[in-house]
Amino acid sequence: MTDDARDGDIAAAEADLPVIDMSVPSIARVYDAFVGGKDNYEVDRALYRQVLEFAPEAPAFAREHRDWLIRVVRFLAGTAGIDQFLDCGSGLPTAENTHQVAQRVNSEARVVYVDNDPVVQAHGRALLEENDRTRFVAGDLTDPAALLADPMVRGHLDFNRPLALIQCSTIHHVPDSQDPNGIMVAYIDALPSGSYVALTHWYDPADGSGVSATARRIQDLFNNGGLGSATFRSRAQIESLFTGLELLEPGLTRIADWWPSGPRLKPLADIDDIVLGGVGRKP
Ligand SMILES: C[S@@+](CC[C@H](N)C(=O)[O-])C[C@H]1O[C@@H](n2cnc3c(N)ncnc32)[C@H](O)[C@@H]1O
Repeated sequence: MTDDARDGDIAAAEADLPVIDMSVPSIARVYDAFVGGKDNYEVDRALYRQVLEFAPEAPAFAREHRDWLIRVVRFLAGTAGIDQFLDCGSGLPTAENTHQVAQRVNSEARVVYVDNDPVVQAHGRALLEENDRTRFVAGDLTDPAALLADPMVRGHLDFNRPLALIQCSTIHHVPDSQDPNGIMVAYIDALPSGSYVALTHWYDPADGSGVSATARRIQDLFNNGGLGSATFRSRAQIESLFTGLELLEPGLTRIADWWPSGPRLKPLADIDDIVLGGVGRKP
């Protein structure tokens, strides 16, 4: 780290501002590059370009992934009648954010976003806290006890009424050593009956296929590229993250297969197979 960068970090810490390290990529910023955002740096785009070399459909797939979240939130706020959302690992603001989708269906819907990335904290907070029904918490989703006790979370969401927990593309960043299942159990235990959990997760069929090879290349790239942990898991492992919930139809599927908004006009690419998603309801 240069002296200037160190001085910047010290100044940010003294002013209690999030410290942004532009010398290593961040998950939130790399994801932002994939969905066509502007809150990313060269170090993030370098990783993005490396993925493009073997998975050129990755940016289109990132958009499909966001579309999955939009379909799910529309369903939850509408048909399921959910009016409060805890969106863990919200990422940088993009088109569209959870509160925009939910509040279009129900203008009273309340959303708490959580992310631990300094750029999300610095740039995203203002956009995500767009009105008095949305809040942003700079928190760690791997510490459910602390997050669920956070005054902002408790003050804004009513845990005596059903709510929706969103873990969209987050738990694969939690290594086995941090007990992702234990983390999900803690969240699910805290949810009242009638609540929902929406979750997507990177999937490796581990069958020697091209899909599995793509999954492993992405996992290696993330783990060796300074991005921290990324773990592709099996279908059974991902399903186990829904323990205590009833999976809604059509179950745990490729995101393109979860209640698509219309007929498929072109074949799916290999990369469409590397994420599974589903929505569970707490009985
Ligand atoms: C791949 S992005 C997904 C963004 C969004 N949920 C979506 O699906 O469009 C993962 C997000 O999770 C956040 N994240 C990863 N680990 C986290 C942690 N331990 N606590 C809070 N946020 C975390 C990252 O900063 C990033 O913004």
